[in-house]
Amino acid sequence: MPTQVANSFDTMFQQDVYDGLTSHPKYLYSKYIYDQKGDALFQDIMAMPEYYLTGCEYEIIDTHSEEIASLFEDKETGFDLIELGAGDGKKTKVLLRELVAQQIDVTYKPIDISQNAIDSLAASLTTEFPHLEVAPERGEYFKVLNRLKSFTDRKKVIMVLGSNIGNLLHPKAINFLTQLQQSLAEGDLLFMGFDQKKHPQTILDAYNDPAGITEAFNKNILHRINAELGGDFEVDKFTHWEVYDPETGTAKSFLVATEAMKVCIDALDLTITFDPWETIHTEISQKYNDKIVSWLAEESGLRIRTSYSDQKMYYKNYVFEKGNG
Ligand code: AVJ
Repeated sequence: MPTQVANSFDTMFQQDVYDGLTSHPKYLYSKYIYDQKGDALFQDIMAMPEYYLTGCEYEIIDTHSEEIASLFEDKETGFDLIELGAGDGKKTKVLLRELVAQQIDVTYKPIDISQNAIDSLAASLTTEFPHLEVAPERGEYFKVLNRLKSFTDRKKVIMVLGSNIGNLLHPKAINFLTQLQQSLAEGDLLFMGFDQKKHPQTILDAYNDPAGITEAFNKNILHRINAELGGDFEVDKFTHWEVYDPETGTAKSFLVATEAMKVCIDALDLTITFDPWETIHTEISQKYNDKIVSWLAEESGLRIRTSYSDQKMYYKNYVFEKGNG
């Protein structure tokens, strides 16, 4: 047996940063972009004209809220609406307004990794929908998923908006969808947003805004390493770079070192070097079409019940149910 160097850290953040920055090529997981600053920058991204995803999904829910509400409704048992990654709930509130107006029996369970997001969402829901039953929870998708199976014995609708699945390469997306499928019972639904393939320039522009908001968002991961792990990244010496492969539909974000550098990270007892123009891969934002989504569904034991698109066909929300075998 080769000698194993044991590297055990206190937190997953430490472990993942160590693994990513000692790997060739270097990478960091995009989930670590989101702290309070990262959340705020993502809010700014969603408000950018170039970031069409949010507006398209809003349009879809706004246009079809009546039909979606009746698809979700269960006249006998009522239903639980469980949203993974609820964020500020802006798009969901359109649907909640419809459900409340139709006096449909629903409990809304928003789940988000950010305590910050959950607290302010819960507060705003109390004011805007005083009669709606809300059961917010802070947690990671996969951990919460296990508990969902036994959540209640009435109809469940699981919702994942924002094309958040796009951060996962297909094998991991299938794993995620399979776990979702396993937490569905017969009659339950899964409502999910998938950003669609489109003109490559439109996609590049969404992740490459001239104001540099996306760049600041991407670089926030280095600021976090500096602040939380005692790193000394000279963040200005990295540049944000986006590529989109129209064949695979994968948009990739990088931070590129503009000169040779040495970086120390105290909490990891680690010094790493960068060659000039060496990269750190930080995020993927996968784009889809019906064929790819059908394939993902089939691989995950799901069946597509129906789908909704915006006018421009930039974005689609699919309704899945448990497939039979
Ligand atoms: C929240 C993962 C859907 O990939 O489009 C936005 C994050 N990154 N701009 C996306 C993001 C850069 C976003 N998701």
